[in-house]
Amino acid sequence: MNNDILKVLYSKEEIEAACQRLGKDISKTYAGKTPVVVGVLKGAIFFMTDIVRAVDTYMQIDFIDVSSYHGATQSSGTVELLQDINTDISGRDVLIVEDIVDTGQTLKFLLDTFANRGASSIKVCTLLDKPAGRTVKVSSDFIGFKVPNEFVVGYGLDYDERYRNLPYIGVLKPEIYANN
Ligand code: XMP
Ligand code: MG
Repeated sequence: MNNDILKVLYSKEEIEAACQRLGKDISKTYAGKTPVVVGVLKGAIFFMTDIVRAVDTYMQIDFIDVSSYHGATQSSGTVELLQDINTDISGRDVLIVEDIVDTGQTLKFLLDTFANRGASSIKVCTLLDKPAGRTVKVSSDFIGFKVPNEFVVGYGLDYDERYRNLPYIGVLKPEIYANN
């Protein structure tokens, strides 16, 4: 699996440092509050578990599963809700935890959905931000790294459901896509 990687963008250590930095920022923002932290499956699973343990406030955690990708490296443009949260977020402070904001369509869908349910505030923490991919205007409050316009895998991010378990984030060799 490691042989399929062209280059490492962010090492395990760099990701850990980013989680500590973001955790401190999030702790300050939510001091005295009990936010509902919603991890977006499946890409954000490892980031979610690392980030919540770096935050020193009371919180509730939940997960939502949405899909817009269908195994391709380009977003399909439609977002499907595959599995909802089961927390009532009306009147609550919500923090969405994402792996990557690319086109922004997934995030827009989540922001609209939670706003419609009457969340009193909604903020976004994303490990990766790919501004060059944006087709809808959305922004994040807490960002780990700004990434170049390349398809990235590892630390939760997949190509066709593989590579999620890489402990770092990297770019795949072009022949991996060519063989599919
Ligand atoms: P959008 O385009 O809606 O993307 O902002 C959000 C979701 O698409 C996936 N995504 C990626 N997955 N490498 C991946 O492995 C990438 O470079 C990439 N870009 C987008 C991801 O699941 C994200 O939550
Ligand atoms: Mg995702």
